[in-house]
Amino acid sequence: MGLLGLDHVIIRVSDASDALRYYRDVLGLAEIAEEDGVQYLGCGGDEYADVGLVNGGQGIVSFAMAVHDTSSLDEVRSQLDSRGIAHGPLEQIAPGITDGLSLRLPSDHLMQVVVRRDKPPYVHDATWLPEGVDAPFDIDHVTLHANDVKGAADFLVENLGFRVTDVFEVEGRWAFAFCRVGDWHHDVAIAGTETDTRLHHFAFLTKGIADQERFADRVTRMGHKSEYGIGRHGPGSNLFLYMRDPTGNRVELTSEMARVTDPDEPPRIWRGDFLEILNVWMPLPPPDSFMEGT
Ligand SMILES: [Fe+2]
Repeated sequence: MGLLGLDHVIIRVSDASDALRYYRDVLGLAEIAEEDGVQYLGCGGDEYADVGLVNGGQGIVSFAMAVHDTSSLDEVRSQLDSRGIAHGPLEQIAPGITDGLSLRLPSDHLMQVVVRRDKPPYVHDATWLPEGVDAPFDIDHVTLHANDVKGAADFLVENLGFRVTDVFEVEGRWAFAFCRVGDWHHDVAIAGTETDTRLHHFAFLTKGIADQERFADRVTRMGHKSEYGIGRHGPGSNLFLYMRDPTGNRVELTSEMARVTDPDEPPRIWRGDFLEILNVWMPLPPPDSFMEGT
């Protein structure tokens, strides 16, 4: 149905100044604009926002999936209408977004579907980074917390054209589902929770492990700590490094995400030792905090 991938996320932060310092000075993102109480920042690979900050609280306000153009948006709208799914106008309009819609998922997440004014087809290493910006490449994926993982994934598949790539199953129940809209292993993942949190993490794409190492050093040098990594996940095979922003929202720096080139590839079911699947390099458990969300 033409969803292209994750465009940006908007999160709540407990202190806007602390958060701005973290995303701008520690992770290196560039301030883009403030619109309707949302401070937008971008990685710099294009002129658009990758994350928006809303002062007060914690967790996720919304996540936005991009579509190619207004006719793709019309297809999404028709599909939702034909299935009787309520939707409305955009609730937050990031800089450069020309059209879109929003809907509330059964998992209680606000999802926006957005059209950008224009966008480069990919971020090019030799043209990336305006002077003075030293950030990850781009936003990559979001991992949502939901009480009903299968229900959340089924909704995305049945109504919005997602495919399920991998599932981690525990005692016959879906504990994780990794969902894609194109070739990349996952754009939106669902992690099970029994709390009322709705965000496990969102991830920025880096160039590789050397870049992740460099960011880990910089984060540490600037008085923060990483939470878990660097390691390699089973599902997705991506390299991960997790950290928490000053509010506690979890940010991942990732690289080497797998691609799934056959759209009809059936979901792969993972079972067994969670630690072996979480980090295939070593069964090194994350801190207890890793299971928390915001
Ligand atoms: Fe992730």
